[in-house]
Amino acid sequence: MQYMFSEVQEARAQLQKEFESLAEKQTILKSIIFRQLYKTLGSLPVTEKPAFGAEVNRLKQEAQEWCRQIDDTDHRVVIDVTAPFAANTQLRPRLLDMTLGSQHPITQEIRVLADIFYRMGFTVLESRQIDDDYHMFESLNFPEGHPARDDYDTFMTTDGLIAPAHTSTMQNRALRLYAKNLERGEPIAVVVPDRVYRNEDLDTTHEHTFYQIEGVYVNKGVTVGNLIATLQTYLSEYFKQELKAKIQPFYFPFTEPSFEFAVERPASLRKESSEADQWLELLGCGMIHPNVLRFAGIDPEIYSGFAWGGGIERLIMMKHGIEDMRYFESGKLEFLRQF
Ligand code: DAH
Repeated sequence: MQYMFSEVQEARAQLQKEFESLAEKQTILKSIIFRQLYKTLGSLPVTEKPAFGAEVNRLKQEAQEWCRQIDDTDHRVVIDVTAPFAANTQLRPRLLDMTLGSQHPITQEIRVLADIFYRMGFTVLESRQIDDDYHMFESLNFPEGHPARDDYDTFMTTDGLIAPAHTSTMQNRALRLYAKNLERGEPIAVVVPDRVYRNEDLDTTHEHTFYQIEGVYVNKGVTVGNLIATLQTYLSEYFKQELKAKIQPFYFPFTEPSFEFAVERPASLRKESSEADQWLELLGCGMIHPNVLRFAGIDPEIYSGFAWGGGIERLIMMKHGIEDMRYFESGKLEFLRQF
């Protein structure tokens, strides 16, 4: 662009140089060069002021245009999470292009799981990333000093808060939250798919941070038969094939009786015929212990229910033939892009 006044023309050349060297391009609009031009403007005879002033304004608009062009073409974003908005910059925060990202496979599968349970009449709740002793143990019928607490070795803060080792921490909350359903003759039916933590030695099937899906169902006259049918339906839906299931006795303080639930390895995942009858233990389950109902203010003389909990990665690994659980948290793009 051309300017009649040589001062303005010169200032433009200087500005351009300065603009090229600037990291924060917008600061060009506050350049000392503009201030000098305004000073010159002030000292001019009245007759020259309007024309000179108009040129300075034009130069400013030109500089604004340079900034706009940079804004539109430069998609590199420096993200400083501690200061996403610097108060003194005119840089508009730019958003990352959504098409560059994708959902993590665990998020995708949680949606699939939630969808199965929505169709079966369940509600979905989230758990906490940090919880307390009452929800982790007491409300689940592990009194202080109970030896089974040792099976849930996890991380704690110095003031006794707990990174939950299972999604069962949400049982008491779910039961309380929906206790009113029972008065209306409706069941409590809740699933909780969320993140849990354990102090584990890491290998292909153990992570310190992983996901579980928990379920609770309470109503009048609920039996082990309902438990088996619900779990079998859920897993057959997830693997899109009829699966044979079996339960075997186990022990959890919060259920009585307690079981391990196993399904026959889906046909699609059988490598050799010798494995054909292999059972896969997928989750723990049982009839909710009367104390757990009582702790939530529900009368176990009137109502009964079942609960279950199991790892989500295990399901995804089976479904997609993934061999190493550590891939999920690795951030490896070659792995993530397959989903
Ligand atoms: N919380 C148990 C675990 O992480 C799994 C479990 C077993 C959950 C039985 C339940 C249940 O709700 O009834 O090992």
